[in-house]
Amino acid sequence: TEPLRVALAGIGTVGAGVIRLIDANRELIARRAGRAIEIVAVSARDRGKDRGVDIARFDWIDDSTALARHSRADVVVELVGGADGPALALARATLEAGKSFVTANKAMIAHHGLELAGAAEAAGTALKFEAAVAGGIPVIKGLREGAAANEIARVYGILNGTCNFILSKMEAEGRDFADVLGEAQRLGFAEADPTFDIDGVDAAHKLSILASLAFGTKPAFGDVATSGVRHVLAADIAEAAALGYRIRLLGIAESNAAGLFQRVHPHLVPLDHPLAHVSGSLNAVVAEGNFVGRLFFQGAGAGDGPTASAVVADLIDIARGEFGPPYAMPADSLLAQPGADTGDR
Ligand code: HSE
Repeated sequence: TEPLRVALAGIGTVGAGVIRLIDANRELIARRAGRAIEIVAVSARDRGKDRGVDIARFDWIDDSTALARHSRADVVVELVGGADGPALALARATLEAGKSFVTANKAMIAHHGLELAGAAEAAGTALKFEAAVAGGIPVIKGLREGAAANEIARVYGILNGTCNFILSKMEAEGRDFADVLGEAQRLGFAEADPTFDIDGVDAAHKLSILASLAFGTKPAFGDVATSGVRHVLAADIAEAAALGYRIRLLGIAESNAAGLFQRVHPHLVPLDHPLAHVSGSLNAVVAEGNFVGRLFFQGAGAGDGPTASAVVADLIDIARGEFGPPYAMPADSLLAQPGADTGDR
């Protein structure tokens, strides 16, 4: 059998992780996928940068959009980031070329997921974004496949590792927000624009993706009422602790007769709830289904290994030919459920 040939756009932390993972687990990936997965071409901002991985063996492409038309590639993996710009141009060009597309780009999927899903379905190819939400936690698969037979009432969780790290540190060390932010940035989990993390925008991107999967609704990022962790004080955290709570930045999506409600804000979590015990840069997602009950997913929401793990899992699905519509049902059958919440978005 022919290998699945991959073109990779963006070789930052996650891109280098994908190359390392495919190198390290080549044999087992080939056995599980039924064929080899092979990177054939790459593009990135800086060709000469030392990333600790050998990229000289791949075709080097200057313009990432040209990866879509690379003659040997079956699939494009996009790890460039940004809701629009080169990432979106590459997504559109790839699907137009009839190839499959894998991305970790939550901002792009939150804003353009519906359009891209329609394009993938029309082309009969895959659009996969497991790595876009909660890094290594297979929560897209969990909702899309594992809980597929359930009516979901609520999906919520800790969707931003940077904020959870900051809140955990503030609690453990009694330090104030501004003091801890620099440390979070140095650890490399933060977005290129860290205001997306601390103002809750990154969590809102991820929540809107989860909500559309959980409820079969059109993604509605604009309906997420969002506030971040900027104004949380060490004193607030101490006060909450005295009352038996921890403060966590939660994303919460609920569907009821009145509509779909999506919000991201700092929340008091009682100590007897598992989310109170998710600390540091971990992420966690809870989903409540009418037959399965309460599901709890926890793991690393960022970082090279976990995020690469999700990217390559998507590639394995594609290599096996196991993929359906990106949102588990045709994009044009997703419901337009009015968001009843509006906030300081
Ligand atoms: N900036 C994100 C976070 C990275 O801190 O969770 C993973 O999406």
